[in-house]
Amino acid sequence: MVSGIFPPLSVRLREGTREAHRRAESAPFMRELFSGRLPLAAYRVFLVQLYSIYSALETGAELLQPETSLRTFYLPALFRCTALERDLGFFFGDESWRKIMPLPATQAYVRRIETVAREWHLGLLAHHYTRYLGDLSGGQVVKRIVAKMYSLDSDEGLAFYNFPQIPDYTAFKDEYRARLDALPIDEVMARRIVAEANLAFELNRQVFTEMMEYLSPPSSRGIRV
Ligand code: HEM
Repeated sequence: MVSGIFPPLSVRLREGTREAHRRAESAPFMRELFSGRLPLAAYRVFLVQLYSIYSALETGAELLQPETSLRTFYLPALFRCTALERDLGFFFGDESWRKIMPLPATQAYVRRIETVAREWHLGLLAHHYTRYLGDLSGGQVVKRIVAKMYSLDSDEGLAFYNFPQIPDYTAFKDEYRARLDALPIDEVMARRIVAEANLAFELNRQVFTEMMEYLSPPSSRGIRV
């Protein structure tokens, strides 16, 4: 089915979040990660945040199943929780990560995902798009940086970046965009979804901002000047 809106939703999402993407991409935390200087302790805490976010997203995604119009977005090949559990186990060496409280910004992000999952399934799609299409895009560059930064010589510790059930990421993303474009939505709904995706980018940026605390030396942590 063709939604009939023009430009199609996938184009609106890409163009409508370009600025938010640029802001998230240039967040100081992302810069540290990209420069290969992120301390391992900070990366471990970052994985804990991701686990919280994907747990909410994937619990919510289960709800997409019975929704007739959205069932094409029930895509377990994208699910990241099991992969994150493997990486967390690898980097922590035990299950202690399960006791770490997510940052306030992560908790706020999770609350928003839970709200849209309950009240507005199309809104959940905006969060789905923002994380998973990002993981299949820039995430692949991050994988190489993380491997080099922490001297990982096998795929151990990198499960988060690998989607073994997806043979061709570019083809998968094209298909995902076609699914977005086939949604029977009107102009008003398209705008609401793009607005929610912008919020999703912003919530990610706020997590990055709070993660910066873990980049300061342990001795100065918690000291407010
Ligand atoms: C330094 C960090 C980042 C880099 C270098 C980066 C890089 C990229 C690149 C090169 C693409 C284009 C891929 C393509 O055209 O197929 C892309 C797409 C995307 N990225 Fe990022 N990204 C970063 C951070 C993020 C973050 C933090 C998010 C969200 C949490 C994100 C979400 C997305 C999404 C949703 C797309 C798909 C856009 C579309 O085609 O509709 N990215 N990214």
